[in-house]
Amino acid sequence: MLASALPGAEIIVVSNRQPYVHKRRGGSIILQRPASGLVAAIEPVMRACGGTWIAHGSGNADHDVVDDADRIEVPPAAPTYSLRRVWLSQEEQDGYYYGLANEGLWPLCHIVFVRPTFRDSDWKQYRAVNARFAAAVVQEAKSKDPIILVQDYHLALLPQMLRDRLPDATIITFWHIPWPSPDTFGLFPWRAELLRGLLGSSVIGFHTQSYCNNFVAAAGKFAEGRIDRERASVAVADGQTLVRAYPISIGWPPAGLAGQPPIANCRASVRARLGLRPAMRLGIGIERLDYTKGIFDCLRAVEKFLSQNPEWLGRVVFLQVAASTRKQIAIYRNLEQELLDVVREINGRFGTANYQPIRLVVRHCEPDEVFEFMRAADFCMVSSLHDGMNLVAKEFVAARDDELGVLILSEFTGAAEELSDALIVNPYHERAVADAVNRALLMPEPEQRERMQRMRALVRSRNIYRWAGQVLLDAAELRDRQGIRSADFARN
Ligand code: G6P
Repeated sequence: MLASALPGAEIIVVSNRQPYVHKRRGGSIILQRPASGLVAAIEPVMRACGGTWIAHGSGNADHDVVDDADRIEVPPAAPTYSLRRVWLSQEEQDGYYYGLANEGLWPLCHIVFVRPTFRDSDWKQYRAVNARFAAAVVQEAKSKDPIILVQDYHLALLPQMLRDRLPDATIITFWHIPWPSPDTFGLFPWRAELLRGLLGSSVIGFHTQSYCNNFVAAAGKFAEGRIDRERASVAVADGQTLVRAYPISIGWPPAGLAGQPPIANCRASVRARLGLRPAMRLGIGIERLDYTKGIFDCLRAVEKFLSQNPEWLGRVVFLQVAASTRKQIAIYRNLEQELLDVVREINGRFGTANYQPIRLVVRHCEPDEVFEFMRAADFCMVSSLHDGMNLVAKEFVAARDDELGVLILSEFTGAAEELSDALIVNPYHERAVADAVNRALLMPEPEQRERMQRMRALVRSRNIYRWAGQVLLDAAELRDRQGIRSADFARN
């Protein structure tokens, strides 16, 4: 379908985070797939469509494996597309990535009451780095009208920069995090410039309709955008941008499931690795160690659950897997120590010589291991305080081909709009989450199966290929219209 809608179209993805990182370990080079919802979603699409993915080469061995044009064919075992790496100096990373993107836009867009920090010097680097990505796209483009898929809040100025240099390109921007209300967005000192950057896109996509509505309202208020409600579009100058909700998803079946042993084996091997009895019930949480993920709220809720239901002591363990992230920023650096303290406190309160109710694994896990944990668990907790979509929730559902296991899901995730068969909770309400843990552990198998079947059917059908199909079909329609307009222009 896509091939016929977009015959011969050249596809270029641009993001900050790359799908494969090469790192030096001892004397050898290892390959890592980063913990990123963006990567989990877009990588299967690139495997299927081919093309070029341009991203920051962040690994300390990335340089060693690229060719003269800074490219490497990936996935390394069976290449289907090119990864073009862009190198950033420490100063650029500090201002653009850590500063503007992650101390400014990230807390601005997530309602978690962490104050955003805006520095002129960061904004300057952000603009400069966006321009560097624009130059890389122009260099990589083989045609005058490629389809360029710009990803996320690191690259908000890129669409207009590309529009200026590749006027015939179809530019589709996807914003992977929430878009805040106009009042909140209005705090951003360079709000009009950022919006104008994004409005260089042919289409801008968000996970939910309410993020679309917030964006349209901001564009009307701060960028003098003319809003066409019928077409759901915003116009500035002579360009028009469609604003669409495309709830993102994962590949089906997900790559992490390939080669997984049966559920019973996963249950046994994970319990053996953790030194747990075979009958021990297991809950898991798997996230980047980010303050938006509600990890502390989750652990406090488990604590409350244990204090309210002491009959479970010795019979259930909660495994928190947390990947370190953005550690150059003080608030992230401190999280790890705080997490260790909370775990120590809860284990001190409820643990014994041979029972520790909370297990903490702070390290990066590759998708295979993540899926094994998910397959071993009785329930999975996603307690984000605010989250654009949250693909861990969808991965848990995809991992459970036995149709069992319970998902506890924060109502403040985009995923909660689709996965209504999860136990939906408010992570700020400790007792409600504690009750959900109890309910998950007591849920009869027929009810688990019924809920899981419905969620699996949904993720199976609304998978990432369908997401890409919708995005690219909208692109194809725009290109057709553009083609007709250019033909009319040529005739007159
Ligand atoms: C979120 C963002 C992604 C980002 C990911 C991991 O999902 O939307 O753009 O890649 O977090 O964060 P990091 O800063 O490590 O790329």
